[in-house]
Amino acid sequence: DPVATPDISTCGPADLPPGANVVTCCPPPSAALPVDFTPPDAASSPLRRRPAAHSVTADYVARLNAGIAAMKALPAGDPRSFAAQASVHCAYCDGSYSPNGFPRVELQVHNSWLFFPFHRCYLYFFERILGSLIGDPSFAIPFWNWDAPDGMRMPAMYADQSSQLFDPRRDGRHAPPKLIDLDYNGSERRFTDNQQIDRNLRVMYRQMVSLSPTPSLFFGGAYRAGDDPNQGPGPVENIPHGPVHIWCGDPSQPSREDMGNFYSAGSDPLFYAHHANIDRMWTVWKGLDDVRRRRTDLADPDWLDASFLFYDETPKLVRIRVRDVLDTGALGYQYQDVPMPWRAARP
Ligand code: C2O
Repeated sequence: DPVATPDISTCGPADLPPGANVVTCCPPPSAALPVDFTPPDAASSPLRRRPAAHSVTADYVARLNAGIAAMKALPAGDPRSFAAQASVHCAYCDGSYSPNGFPRVELQVHNSWLFFPFHRCYLYFFERILGSLIGDPSFAIPFWNWDAPDGMRMPAMYADQSSQLFDPRRDGRHAPPKLIDLDYNGSERRFTDNQQIDRNLRVMYRQMVSLSPTPSLFFGGAYRAGDDPNQGPGPVENIPHGPVHIWCGDPSQPSREDMGNFYSAGSDPLFYAHHANIDRMWTVWKGLDDVRRRRTDLADPDWLDASFLFYDETPKLVRIRVRDVLDTGALGYQYQDVPMPWRAARP
């Protein structure tokens, strides 16, 4: 059977690491039962085009800032607030929920085939909340284009200390112009910029192509109702997803907050740009042309019917299934087209 989030009234205490800077991760209660997700109406809603974070205009930066500021200004009891949005990640990753019908098993959306769809849903609602707060229904969140040389630094708008996008709990050594290491394991390497770029491109090829020839390899371990969590991450969840988190977090914090720990990662605005690029990789992977391979979504109903609960921008509680989010066009967004030199970087 598919994993399903139970009613949010069952949300319990999170398993937080020692020294954590929050006490609970549960979303505000909902007076009404969840409604089933309905896709945005294509005729009346503008297509959102998510831009590469390093390529945006000053006007775009101002609107993104205004949106994050508006979310931060809402009280934490409002499910649209930045604090409540950040805690969504903690609730789904640090044991606040059990899958419906399995009260003694912990729900965890990482390290399994739920990784890509859960985060797609999370960003979808985050983006709509942000857009509605600035009165712009076409607003699209940026993606951190770390897979291409022009995007391999922390995007400048996130590193501006006067910005709403800044987070002091980051590794100061990794502020721009430091190049990211997509294989980062916690120790600094002494590569030249050209060596680092070349390594990163090969990492991308290895994870997206060599290690991801089939849907079951790409998406990660099957995870069904009642299973213990952590059935095994897919190659992209493993690397570069994990290393980018660790590279951003502050090693002088107890648990490499914010980006370096599940409970706190959603508190850094950079999280949403990192995950937009992860989400983009799902779409890119399905479009890789290789006649010998079938790069498609999984057909297993236990994947397709897995479901999560999120608040939308109105804010009402919505139940959304994996099968609802396979096509970004149907969700009303697409990604800016950018060069992908890693496709030629066969190791
Ligand atoms: Cu839910 Cu990047 O982790």
